[in-house]
Amino acid sequence: MVGGGADNAIIAARTRFGRPERAPSMLRPMELNGTTAIVSGGASGLGEATVRALAAAGCQVVVADLNEEQGKAVADATGGVFARTDVSDEQSVQAAVDAAATAGLPLRVAVSCAGIGWAARTVGRDGSPHDLASYRKVIDVNLIGTFNLMRLAAAAIARTEAADADGQRGVIINTASVAGIEGQTGQIAYSASKGGIIGMTVPAARDLAAIGVRVNTICPGIIDTPIYGQGPASDEFKARLIAPVVFPKRMGTSAEFAQLVRALIENDYMNAEVIRFDGGIRFQPK
Ligand SMILES: NC(=O)c1ccc[n+]([C@@H]2O[C@H](COP(=O)([O-])OP(=O)(O)OC[C@H]3O[C@@H](n4cnc5c(N)ncnc54)[C@H](O)[C@@H]3O)[C@@H](O)[C@H]2O)c1
Repeated sequence: MVGGGADNAIIAARTRFGRPERAPSMLRPMELNGTTAIVSGGASGLGEATVRALAAAGCQVVVADLNEEQGKAVADATGGVFARTDVSDEQSVQAAVDAAATAGLPLRVAVSCAGIGWAARTVGRDGSPHDLASYRKVIDVNLIGTFNLMRLAAAAIARTEAADADGQRGVIINTASVAGIEGQTGQIAYSASKGGIIGMTVPAARDLAAIGVRVNTICPGIIDTPIYGQGPASDEFKARLIAPVVFPKRMGTSAEFAQLVRALIENDYMNAEVIRFDGGIRFQPK
């Protein structure tokens, strides 16, 4: 027998009233094929994997990144477009969004992956307070950069036709970090920037409901990307980072991250959620 009693009852009722035997929302996920997506930080790591996954799903992807050489290479490899972008600069992000909005296919997706790390204590071992310029820089790139892409892309998505009967127009995915929840010693600036992204998730989803745009935030744990550098010292560092991971006992991969991005986009009922993506890790104080 296929399906339970409740399923059978629904099918029987639908058949009786002459309706098609399908649940409208579940069988019609946000369609990626034939749409445009914009991905900040798309030249490397999590962003690059996201660009590749969305392109494989049939999206035309605008790679918005500071890194021209790598960004162009990723765009060329995926049939997309590169837009040199500094996410902390409003005009720069607007130009990238304009490129995405006029690319021919409807803009449906914006994924923020651009980000930088920073390590300094609130008061250093030598007694000096945290440098304010570096704190501002991390907030500018990670938090304001994410807000820039979200607000400017959403305004462009609002001008498209609704994609389905629910009135859905698009999806925003932001990248925070588990450090935005349990920041470690020395992560004050980074954690503040990521905590801000987490905090924007619910009000952004509420604001953008009016235009049919969902918003979800992913909090990665330890994912193997170029952010950790390369070579023996980096390998040793990464081996130490893995220790508190619960299972599987390894770093996550950027392809696994991209798989989650795609799942969140394609599942129409995922909204206003902050999702840990971390193999069960809970960061220790140091
Ligand atoms: N890798 C991890 O373990 C991990 C964990 C938690 C959160 N994250 C977050 O995921 C995101 C991606 O990290 P990643 O590991 O792929 O790093 P990465 O260094 O491989 O990629 C980051 C990309 O962002 C771009 N970028 C930096 N500043 C920019 C700016 N001002 N404007 C436009 N582009 C800019 C870089 O050129 C680079 O291509 C970051 O926000 C990071 O904080 C990563």
